[in-house]
Amino acid sequence: MSSDQTSVTGPLRIGVAGLGTVGGGTLKLLQEQSELLQRRCGRRIEVVAVSARDRRKTREVEISALRWHDRAEALATDTEVDAVVELIGGADGAALALCEAALANGKHLVTANKALLAHHGTALAQAAEAAGVNLGYEAAVAGGIPIIKALREGLAGNRIEGAYGILNGTCNYILTAMHDGVRSGQVQSFETVLNEAQRLGYAEADPATDIDGIDAAHKLAILTSVVFGCPVNFDAVHIEGIRHINAIDIEYALELGYRMKLLAIARDAPNGIEQRVHPCMVPENAPIAHVDGVFNAVVVKGDFVGTTMFEGPGAGAGPTASAVVADLIDIARGQMVPTFAVPAKSLSPRSFAPMAKHVGTYYIRLMVVDRPGVIAEIAACLRDQQVSVEAMIQRARDPDEAVPVVLTTHEAEEAAVTRAVAAMAKLGSILETPCMIRIETL
Ligand SMILES: NC(=O)c1ccc[n+]([C@@H]2O[C@H](COP(=O)([O-])OP(=O)(O)OC[C@H]3O[C@@H](n4cnc5c(N)ncnc54)[C@H](OP(=O)(O)O)[C@@H]3O)[C@@H](O)[C@H]2O)c1
Repeated sequence: MSSDQTSVTGPLRIGVAGLGTVGGGTLKLLQEQSELLQRRCGRRIEVVAVSARDRRKTREVEISALRWHDRAEALATDTEVDAVVELIGGADGAALALCEAALANGKHLVTANKALLAHHGTALAQAAEAAGVNLGYEAAVAGGIPIIKALREGLAGNRIEGAYGILNGTCNYILTAMHDGVRSGQVQSFETVLNEAQRLGYAEADPATDIDGIDAAHKLAILTSVVFGCPVNFDAVHIEGIRHINAIDIEYALELGYRMKLLAIARDAPNGIEQRVHPCMVPENAPIAHVDGVFNAVVVKGDFVGTTMFEGPGAGAGPTASAVVADLIDIARGQMVPTFAVPAKSLSPRSFAPMAKHVGTYYIRLMVVDRPGVIAEIAACLRDQQVSVEAMIQRARDPDEAVPVVLTTHEAEEAAVTRAVAAMAKLGSILETPCMIRIETL
C-alpha cells in the first residue's frame, strides 16, 4: 500500500453520478457520518457535484446545494472534483464513458458497477495505474462484505487456492424460500417464489440478470482476477441460473444430506482455472449451506490462513453505501492498492478449463415409466460412459404415472456425464428432460 501524501490535504471533493438506491444511500451515509469520517480520515469527504438522469425527480437526500451536471461525463472534467463515484450501472454507455473520462483526467474512481468491471475491468485498471489514481470497487462484489479489501490486503500473504460464494441475494432468497417450503410441507414452485420475491422488492421486474446467473458471473470474474492475478475474463465463466430448479430436487437434496445453492466458484484446477456459476448441492454441514435469504457469503482458501468465510448483506442502499464509502476513505487517507492485487501491467493471462473437463460428482433425476428393465437401460447409459453410480433412490411405484428415479454418481468427468444423460433422454422410458445438478464437496 503506498501513501500519496501530496493529495492528503483539504477535503476530498467528490462527484457522484447516479442517485438511485446506491447513490442515495452513499449521499445519506456521507451526510450522517461526516464527523466520524473526518476523524477517521483526518480530512472531510465532501460531495460537491452530482449527476443523474432526471434533475426534477424528488430525492430522499438533499442535493439542492450541490452542483448539478446533466451529463455525467462532465464530472470528469469538473476541476473541483478529486474523485468520481460512478453509481449509474450498465456495462457500457454513460457509465463506461464517465469512468474512462474520469481516469483520463486523473481523477480517482469508485464504482459499484460489476457489469462494467466484468467487461472492462482490466483496461480500467491499466488506465487507473497509468494515471496514478485509485480504482475502488468494493461495492461491486458481495455488496456490504469487504471481500476485496480482505483479498487485496488482509489475505495478501497467501497463495489462494480458490474462492467460492453465494454472490446473488435474489437467487439465494428464492432457493431459501423453496427449501423452507419443502421443509414445512408447503411446497412452492420456482415461479411462485419468484413472484413473491418481486412483490417484496428482492427481485427486479426483469429478473433475468439475477436468476440466470449473470450478475453472480460478473462478480465472479472480478473475484477471479483478484484471487489469481489474471486479467478479468468474463467470457470464460460457465453460467447456469436457477430457472430450472424444481422443488422436487430440493426435496431430494435434503434427503441426500445437501442444500441447494447457486454458487460462484473460482478454482485452480488441473486443466486450468475454473470459473463457474451454477446451482449445486452442498453438504448440509458446510457453513455456506446455512447462508440464507438475501445474504451473500464468500469462502476463501489460502495456503497459510486456511479456510475463511465472509458473510453479510450483498445488496441494498446501506450495505452498498458502506462499501462505496470504504473506498472513498482509502482515497481520503491516500492509501493505494493495486486494483486486482497486483499491478495491472503484471496481470498474467491464465488458461481457463472448459466445463466439459470438470471432474465432480453429480445428481441426476429422471422421470420414468415404471416398467421392468428401465433401471437396466439407465445403468447401461452410465456404464457406456464409464460413470459409476454412488446411490439410487426410486420411491414411488405407479404404473400409470411417471415416477422419479434419482441417481448420484461417483467422481466423473462432466463430458462423460453429459453424454450419459443425453443417451438417457433418448430412452423411450424417460418421460421428461433429465435433470442434472452438480454436487460440490467443498
Ligand atoms: N442496488 C444494489 O443493492 C446494488 C448493490 C451492489 C451494486 N450495485 C450497483 O450499483 C449501481 C447502481 O445501482 P442502483 O441500484 O443504485 O441503480 P438505480 O437505483 O437504478 O439508480 C441508477 C441511477 O443512475 C442514474 N442514471 C441513469 N442513467 C444515467 C445517465 N445516463 N447519466 C447519469 N445518471 C444516470 C439514475 O438517474 P434518475 O434517478 O434520474 O433516474 C439513477 O439515479 C449499478 O452498477 C449496480 O449494479 C447495486
